[in-house]
Amino acid sequence: MSALLEVTGLEVAYGHIEAVKGIDFKLKEGEITSLVGANGAGKSTTLLALSGLIKKAKGSIKFEGEEVGGLAPHQVVQRGLVQVAEGRATLTTMSVRENLELGAYTRKDRGNIKADLDRVLQRFPRLAERLDQFAGNLSGGEQQMLAIGRALMARPRLLLLDEPSMGLAPIIVQDIFRTLKEINAEGLTIFLVEQNVRQALKIAQHGYVLENGKIVLDDTGRNLLGNPRVLEAYLGG
Ligand SMILES: Nc1ncnc2c1ncn2[C@@H]1O[C@H](COP(=O)(O)OP(=O)(O)OP(=O)(O)O)[C@@H](O)[C@H]1O
Ligand SMILES: [Mg+2]
Repeated sequence: MSALLEVTGLEVAYGHIEAVKGIDFKLKEGEITSLVGANGAGKSTTLLALSGLIKKAKGSIKFEGEEVGGLAPHQVVQRGLVQVAEGRATLTTMSVRENLELGAYTRKDRGNIKADLDRVLQRFPRLAERLDQFAGNLSGGEQQMLAIGRALMARPRLLLLDEPSMGLAPIIVQDIFRTLKEINAEGLTIFLVEQNVRQALKIAQHGYVLENGKIVLDDTGRNLLGNPRVLEAYLGG
């Protein structure tokens, strides 16, 4: 399968702090690719650069063969690169329905939005039951589902997630990862950034390990799970 996204020589800095130090990676169409690493490794910075929320210093970000590195965030979303807002970033004083509709705001094909809303509500029946409630009244897991549903409303070609498991109970984390697997099985390409290394590699066809702004390992999810360096550094030996 071809690469949907190809990043080469990506460097990102905050002032003179170099957060991402020249990384190369590819996301294959139809796969889940996980980027794992410790606190401060540069995972979120990498995602922010893909979303156009932070300017890269160097390198190239090619999506479907075209450079998207210099685009504004809304243009990136229009191309189909959509980042799931962090769980608690759902707009808590808006209803579930308004949050989902907001996900579609950059779309030009207004006519298809209703059908997509129905599809999202079928996938997340809990949201359907709570359509007119404030998002702030949902549980943490439901807010994460809402954030994913909202991203799906943008009709992504590539879904980006930054630590969707953060702060959630283990049983809810299982739900979130199961949902991601299902969405992927239906054809959506996913780039997952996680500190939950075991779960993230388990559902990923491919994985990258980021340490101090550099990619140090690049392999299948399965191989990385069995890699001694991964075992020792991230999976408690
Ligand atoms: N706004 C900022 N200003 C200055 N330095 C920053 C900023 N955001 C991140 N950094 C630094 O950039 C480096 C990478 O941070 P980043 O948030 O990308 O890591 P991360 O892998 O997402 O970590 P975590 O797992 O804690 O979310 C760290 O050294 C961090 O301190
Ligand atoms: Mg982060």
